[in-house]
Amino acid sequence: MRDVAVIGVGMTRFGELWDTPLRDLFAMAAADCLADAGVDRDRIQSAYIGCMSGGLFNGQEHLASILTDYAGLSGISATRVESACASGGAAFRAAWLEVASGASDFVLAAGVEKMNDGADATYCLATAADQEYEVYNGVTFPGLYAMIANAHMARYGTTREMLAAVAVKNHANGFHNPNAQFRMKITPETVLGATKVAEPLGLFDCSPVTDGAACVLLAPADVARELGKPVVRIIGSGHATDTIALHDRPDLAAIPVVGEAGRRAYAMAGIGPDDVDLCEVHDCFTIAEVVCTEELGLFERGQGGPAALDGVTARDGAKPVNPSGGLKSKGHPVGATGIAQICEVTLQLTGRAGERQVKDARVGLAQNMGGSGGSCTVHILEVES
Ligand code: COA
Repeated sequence: MRDVAVIGVGMTRFGELWDTPLRDLFAMAAADCLADAGVDRDRIQSAYIGCMSGGLFNGQEHLASILTDYAGLSGISATRVESACASGGAAFRAAWLEVASGASDFVLAAGVEKMNDGADATYCLATAADQEYEVYNGVTFPGLYAMIANAHMARYGTTREMLAAVAVKNHANGFHNPNAQFRMKITPETVLGATKVAEPLGLFDCSPVTDGAACVLLAPADVARELGKPVVRIIGSGHATDTIALHDRPDLAAIPVVGEAGRRAYAMAGIGPDDVDLCEVHDCFTIAEVVCTEELGLFERGQGGPAALDGVTARDGAKPVNPSGGLKSKGHPVGATGIAQICEVTLQLTGRAGERQVKDARVGLAQNMGGSGGSCTVHILEVES
């Protein structure tokens, strides 16, 4: 296996982008990424593009061809990757493997989703849950995560205030992110007083419905050195799957797929959670950030909530989580999220994160999850000194 580096990043603004079609979103992110890398289009050999459901959201399938064509990349090897909300992370892993194997030198990993295009987003998203046993009985993702939240509260004493602290912190971070959907600071009262979506989760416990695309360029680390780029190496990659349905799992207060993907990534990197300087985790709902930080070993079980409340996960805290604003504030265009996380980690490790920069960041982790924990990727990146 060759050492692989991220040598360019690009993304669109995230939000309700009614005037921008799906193909344009991808083309914009790809152009941004290639400009950042300083690599010409004709050197790109391959692309992996995460997208959860172009068919349901936009009536468009056969995405790899149409997207690469409109991005001026027609003819390259291109593959669409689907793993629900973890599609971006899965695309990144596929691109990493292609470069690591020696098959290709310049490979794009991208993600795109246009969720605001007239389709019923809740219906489209729910196709990533168990249709027969969950959705048919009326439950959608806010309801599934509400069950996880209720179980976590009952088991560990996690409170609404702790969940609210996650949203407040992520909005404070997203305020400094020019690409974020919601760039406003909020207070705990905003979260606690918001309309309930699925008890105990309210509007501000949820990630929004978002359009956007993100793209990164991978190359062998020695090529990155030759290009004179800061070398952000992929030192760990973990991918795991689990049951889609919550009722098939032994413990509702856990999301085991995250722990498993994390252990695989840490083992490959030869490091542990204490060696990580910042994390981008999959906070599709506030409770998800709490459980994922526990699964990733940042905190003991039951301590994720208190850590958020005590500021440990703040940008200037001991364990910064979601300096980008996370899915809550930055937005969650499902197929693009995993790649946007890699963009943020890369910007942080290369000191390019502006006002949301985490001090002295050398190792960063990105965790991207499908559905209510049916799939997960964890990637660990390290910048060479
Ligand atoms: N956080 C904060 N504000 C939000 C928001 C969110 N998640 N979602 C919408 N809003 C705001 C909108 O900006 C709008 O504000 P305005 O009136 O000031 O313009 C207002 O709330 C109403 O927006 P609307 O689009 O009508 O909201 P909605 O009721 O249709 O959707 C949710 C709200 C929470 C149901 C929706 O965002 C949702 O389903 N989120 C979860 C997505 C999901 O499941 N993703 C996959 C995870 S596995």
